[in-house]
Amino acid sequence: MHSDVKEILLSEEDIAKLVSDIAAQISEDYKDKKLLLVCVLKGSICFMADLMRKIDLPLEIEFLRAKSYLAGSSESCGDVQVKSAIDNLSEYDVVVVEDIFDTGRTLQKVKAKMIEDGAKSVRCCSLLDKPERRDESVTLKLDYVGKEIPNAFVVGYGLDYDEKYRGLPYVGILKPEVYGG
Ligand code: IMP
Repeated sequence: MHSDVKEILLSEEDIAKLVSDIAAQISEDYKDKKLLLVCVLKGSICFMADLMRKIDLPLEIEFLRAKSYLAGSSESCGDVQVKSAIDNLSEYDVVVVEDIFDTGRTLQKVKAKMIEDGAKSVRCCSLLDKPERRDESVTLKLDYVGKEIPNAFVVGYGLDYDEKYRGLPYVGILKPEVYGG
């Protein structure tokens, strides 16, 4: 275990099980649809890469950027910017793939953007959910969720603190002294 990590919350095996369960649900729900998985960069890349290989359907993939955290901070600055340049969205039933549903502002903004850009339908999927952190402005509910976790700052499996720890194969709770928490 990395010396900056206090505790492993999800092992590689735990993650694999959660991903398989979500993939099975999506495979069932999107049988007769034209599925487009939209990965919210950068934190969701590991989840996206594993999920797309477990979904037993033809699918297409796209990526977009959403940014709300200031560099070197573990707090969202609240103002979420979504950069997306996906063509022909009106042909697709979209599933947005997110690493963690925290305040919820990012996914809410991304879903609104997909609808605004004409997607046929939009559902939201997140590997992790921190319900205690939800912002009061957020009404969005997740359609697919891996696991609810406590209110702690987590890293690994794509998730970072100040661009570090994304390559850890597990999800771990970062020691508060590392981020001044
Ligand atoms: P939200 O808009 O507050 O829901 O935040 C969503 C984004 O914040 C996620 O996609 C992550 O990139 C980041 N984030 C939220 N909580 C954590 C965490 O515990 N560790 C690392 N990144 C996080």
